[in-house]
Amino acid sequence: MKIVHTIAELRAQLRGQLRTSFVPTMGNLHDGHLSLMRIAAKHGDPVVASVFVNRLQFTPNEDFDRYPRTLEDDARKLEAEGVYVLFAPDEREIYPVPQEFRISPPRDLGDILEGEFRPGFFVGVTTVVMKLFQCVGPQVAVFGKKDYQQQMVIRQMCEQFSLPTEIIAAETIRDHDGLALSSRNGYLSASERAQAPSLYERLHEMRSTLLALGSPTPQDCRAIEAEALTFLTNQGWTPDYLSIRLRRNLRPPSAEDLSAGAALVILAAARLGSTRLIDNLEV
Ligand code: PAF
Repeated sequence: MKIVHTIAELRAQLRGQLRTSFVPTMGNLHDGHLSLMRIAAKHGDPVVASVFVNRLQFTPNEDFDRYPRTLEDDARKLEAEGVYVLFAPDEREIYPVPQEFRISPPRDLGDILEGEFRPGFFVGVTTVVMKLFQCVGPQVAVFGKKDYQQQMVIRQMCEQFSLPTEIIAAETIRDHDGLALSSRNGYLSASERAQAPSLYERLHEMRSTLLALGSPTPQDCRAIEAEALTFLTNQGWTPDYLSIRLRRNLRPPSAEDLSAGAALVILAAARLGSTRLIDNLEV
């Protein structure tokens, strides 16, 4: 595996390469990331991975400074997966001057859920992903479904900017007890780690209630959400949201959507101590 740190080196390395599959990451790689590499590799094209902790997508009070940086370890894992090129730029390479041109996702997708609780998050994500796509020029890029809204925002960005990159959404990889793998799980204390799977369990409870109702109303959805919020709060969580949404656009389902059996997804973000976890479950 070739490790490159500059855009010029990356372009030189990829010159003449007709197709590539790309997996952008912020490093601190776990089995969830490695599953994305395997899906990218299945496309038969050389896999390019990037490791870059993108300051633009962190709000000022978030964990940018303490976000784990484990490049040597990450490179070993990527090499073992047969990755062709690892692009690991530093901040000056990606943002040599203040990044004044930015992507602005549509408000009705980018300012809800994660975008509401992390203002500017999707501006930061789409801006860096656009920039990374310009550097790599991939035909395929793989994103995890754990960041459900992120992969939808990026897919729409590609469609609206006519980018030639197919976005593949990969299933969430979970620990033995259901906890979605995340670099932020490493922040959890032992007792928080023991409690963390209850977020996913609650999503399952919500799904079971929806399915048992058969044809729920919007009021049923609000009641299910409120009950889950109270349950998790009583368990010591600080939830940002637990929300039943339409899979197609992440808006709350109307009575018509629900009676037509529109596909739903339940999305959650909640804090255990100082660690913020997100998860989701398709209904
Ligand atoms: O999902 C992530 O790790 C990041 O948001 C991404 C897509 C690498 C952009 O920085």
